[in-house]
Amino acid sequence: MNHLFTPFNIKNITFRNRIVMPPMCMYSAGNDGIASPWHSFHYRTRAQGGAGLIIQEATSVESRGRISSNDLGIWSDSHLPGLSDIVKGIIEEGAVPGIQLAHAGRKCNAEGEDVIAPSPINFDLNDPAFVTPREMGRDDIEIVIESFKRGAERAAEAGYKILEIHGAHGYLLSSFLSPLTNTRSDEFGGSPRKRAEFLRLLIKAIRTVWKEENPLMLRVSAADWAEGGNKPEDLAEIIKLVKNEGLDIINVSSGGVVHKAKIPAAPGFQVPAAKIIKNLTGLPVIGGGLITNAGQAEEFVRNGDTDLVFLGRELLRNPFFPLLSSKEAGEEIDYWPKQYARAR
Ligand SMILES: Cc1cc2nc3c(=O)[nH]c(=O)nc-3n(C[C@H](O)[C@H](O)[C@H](O)COP(=O)(O)O)c2cc1C
Repeated sequence: MNHLFTPFNIKNITFRNRIVMPPMCMYSAGNDGIASPWHSFHYRTRAQGGAGLIIQEATSVESRGRISSNDLGIWSDSHLPGLSDIVKGIIEEGAVPGIQLAHAGRKCNAEGEDVIAPSPINFDLNDPAFVTPREMGRDDIEIVIESFKRGAERAAEAGYKILEIHGAHGYLLSSFLSPLTNTRSDEFGGSPRKRAEFLRLLIKAIRTVWKEENPLMLRVSAADWAEGGNKPEDLAEIIKLVKNEGLDIINVSSGGVVHKAKIPAAPGFQVPAAKIIKNLTGLPVIGGGLITNAGQAEEFVRNGDTDLVFLGRELLRNPFFPLLSSKEAGEEIDYWPKQYARAR
């Protein structure tokens, strides 16, 4: 039996298989953060190709939370029509629509924005794209939490079924979690519990508007790949401190926290971290990284290393990867688009 093509249930949602399209910024919105027909087409195509869950790219909860001036936004009601159209396309093609709510923090390159972070530590002093961020005060912390909450409200209104909080890659939340980027001495820095406090408050606020029955996901950098940085066990500890505020799944990535990280890239290189987090937190996980064939993905799911597998660049290259893989595996699936039945 093929495990990759078995459905996965979480709360009231079923993914038709274990293949996840992870969030991938397309830097294709206007300066206003509004989604264009291009986005709807892009996501609909991946849903048509058979992915189970599609997590829309980092979508910013504040204009100063954008990585670039062309990121998608969810900081205003004017974003809702474009986002609703993306959701509609994904649902019509049988996949589950998710969205990653994000704040770039110190990695904001959008023009003319206020660049904020837990501590004033520049990501890369040699790259003029990065400025030294302003250390956040208590008021900034409250404003950002409120922005995530409003973003979650809008995500629900647009129809997304899964909400993912971007806690990875050195962006705002991630930089609170890592001791390399958070040197605060108040209640938001120091011990793992204190570094996790901003995230805990944020999850709590999101859960006041994102209904209990809807899954909430957190993406983490499970390894900073740098001396003195976080390792999978550290992230597991942090997740255990916040999960009771209402987390359902952990999407395990790594890196992006420090500029000079040494990443041991190989197919599935982040899956061992996913396994550690699954075992230590008891939560289901999504693992992956550099996976390009269904055999690799199948093995990780069959071994129980990860519940779900993300395929990022492979799905950019080939949106029909899930359908073609099911055909190669001789797996009977009932979501081959009827229009393409003769190509099956
Ligand atoms: C073009 C591109 C944009 C990305 N944008 C995001 C993003 O918005 N949020 C995120 O968490 N990860 C982002 N990532 C990381 C991917 O989600 C994924 O973890 C990474 O590509 C490794 O998986 P892969 O080897 O299967 O591509 C991005 C990756 C790529 C290639």
